[in-house]
Amino acid sequence: MSECIGIDSLMFNHAVIDEQHRDILYLGAEINRLFSICADRQEVLIAVYKYYDIVLTHFSCESSLIALLDPSKYKHHTDEHIRLHKSMIGFIRDAITDLEDGLSVSEIRDTFPILFNDMMNNIAVNDRELVGILEQEGSLRRGS
Ligand SMILES: [Fe+2]
Repeated sequence: MSECIGIDSLMFNHAVIDEQHRDILYLGAEINRLFSICADRQEVLIAVYKYYDIVLTHFSCESSLIALLDPSKYKHHTDEHIRLHKSMIGFIRDAITDLEDGLSVSEIRDTFPILFNDMMNNIAVNDRELVGILEQEGSLRRGS
């Protein structure tokens, strides 16, 4: 999948987080493909719902890791992570609402790549920083 070239550079040697990131990146690339070929709206909607579910599960997992941080020491990182999560969830919800309200795939096809890029950037920058901080604080258990 060409959109996922470089995915190894987005892995942090954390079994759960890496698996969730991999699923998010591959499904995101698949949704981009569906948009690019203007696939059937119902097919796109099912994929976006699935994406929404796995992103929510992942963000919940990351929130439990963020909660391990001392808020007085890492307020900026914590606030930024939460802000980005809210923004991306809102973006996915808007796509679902647009499709459910009857907008065609071609009408919103230009918006999803923005979310996909935001997600990759979030993983590459904010999640990398989170894992680094957790390692530094001795709060990271790789397998869980
Ligand atoms: Fe993440």
